[in-house]
Amino acid sequence: MTNGPEATGTAVDPAVAGTGAEALRERAVSVLRRARERTALLTDVVEGPDLVAQHSPLMSPLVWDLAHIGNQEELWLLRAVAGRDAMRPDIDPLYDAFEHPRAERPSLPLLAPGEARAYAAEVRGRVLDLLAGAEFGSRGFGAGLTEAGFAFGMVAQHEQQHDETMLITHQLRKGPAVLSAPEPEGAGGDAGPDEVLVPGGAFTMGTSDEPWALDNERPAHRRLVPAFHLDTAPVTCGAYLRFMADGGYADPRWWAPEGWELVRRQNLSAPLFWRREGGTWWRRRFGVDEPVREAEPVVHVSWYEADAYARWAGRRLPTEAEWEKAARHDPGSGRSRRYPWGDEVPGPRHANLGQRHLRPAPAGSYPRGASPHGVRQLIGDVWEWTASDFLPYPGFVAYPYREYSEVFFGSEHKVLRGGSFAADEVVVRATFRNWDYPVRRQIFAGFRTARDAAPGEGA
Ligand code: AVJ
Ligand code: FE
Repeated sequence: MTNGPEATGTAVDPAVAGTGAEALRERAVSVLRRARERTALLTDVVEGPDLVAQHSPLMSPLVWDLAHIGNQEELWLLRAVAGRDAMRPDIDPLYDAFEHPRAERPSLPLLAPGEARAYAAEVRGRVLDLLAGAEFGSRGFGAGLTEAGFAFGMVAQHEQQHDETMLITHQLRKGPAVLSAPEPEGAGGDAGPDEVLVPGGAFTMGTSDEPWALDNERPAHRRLVPAFHLDTAPVTCGAYLRFMADGGYADPRWWAPEGWELVRRQNLSAPLFWRREGGTWWRRRFGVDEPVREAEPVVHVSWYEADAYARWAGRRLPTEAEWEKAARHDPGSGRSRRYPWGDEVPGPRHANLGQRHLRPAPAGSYPRGASPHGVRQLIGDVWEWTASDFLPYPGFVAYPYREYSEVFFGSEHKVLRGGSFAADEVVVRATFRNWDYPVRRQIFAGFRTARDAAPGEGA
């Protein structure tokens, strides 16, 4: 082994240490394997007809995601990195997300479930052979793409992102439950105050040295963020129920104009998957009906609902820069951390990630995952809508393809931060940026609220 950060006893993972082909190889194999185990679980628990069916016009059939995962892995690792020829040039256009919108995908001549599994497995076998002899960076093949194992990390992140997408498809699927998981651990005792003051000043946003960070997280740059207050936990179902009971969905004062239009057009009165029976709100979650739990972070709300709730509460959504400052800025050292708790890779005591549970943990859980300011559950549980449009950082360079981020920049997408219970550790860093249309409700998104500090407060 090398003497890098490992030798000092700091818990920094090999990807970050950036030294040692052996450590990188192990990390690459382990994240690829974990992703494939999850893909297999999500596609093995249902029968063939369920894999080829479209469960919602918003989603692809599960069998499309499966073959697309294999196709992207082939494209980046076998063709771009290793210079191999296409294994199945005939199927490439079917699995190019830009050629066919999701609604069209069921009518394409897709690989059947058995063929899709075999194709993805064949690609993976060749990738593992390649990895066995891989050298990373300029001394090896593929030069820049494999620097610090980037392409392997990118492909594992891609598969995990589609695994979250497939879990959303499972949530939209009708029929009895096929997935189960243990309940998250309860709250970790006293959750402290409802909000914290984050003092004003500049901090370092984004990253230039996180080896597996994707293009839109780069480069690191200084951002001035005036003092603000931020909720210590995501907004709960209980708090959201009070907004509903106060006539929140019936009062245009709280809503952005397009949000109000959406409420009226779709007759919205509650988060997606909720229904009222007698005096009780129920929800369906992965095929199981249950009463809404007041202590749980609210999930399956659009940006417009989050925005309206915040206005009703006399508050607002945090900007993306505020969110990241609260999650990363260490007032002691002045530097930005990888995670709210430090640089240590997320474990089960830090955050609810990786589909270990099929729901967010109660608000106030995971004290070990708190930021220096005492903000909890920034990582995991629910994606958090921010006030910000998805825009490039100053100095952004598309890498390695424009279609990952660049084509989505603009005012039509809002940024989500922090990851959900369905996001994997390899994807979720405190710099990671997700985005979606503000009308979307099927994603595992909730929010927390903020407010400006008074003049002089936290200056
Ligand atoms: C970053 C989650 C918005 O799923 O559309 C998957 C990730 N990009 N394949 C998406 C992605 C290409 C992307 N999100
Ligand atoms: Fe994709």
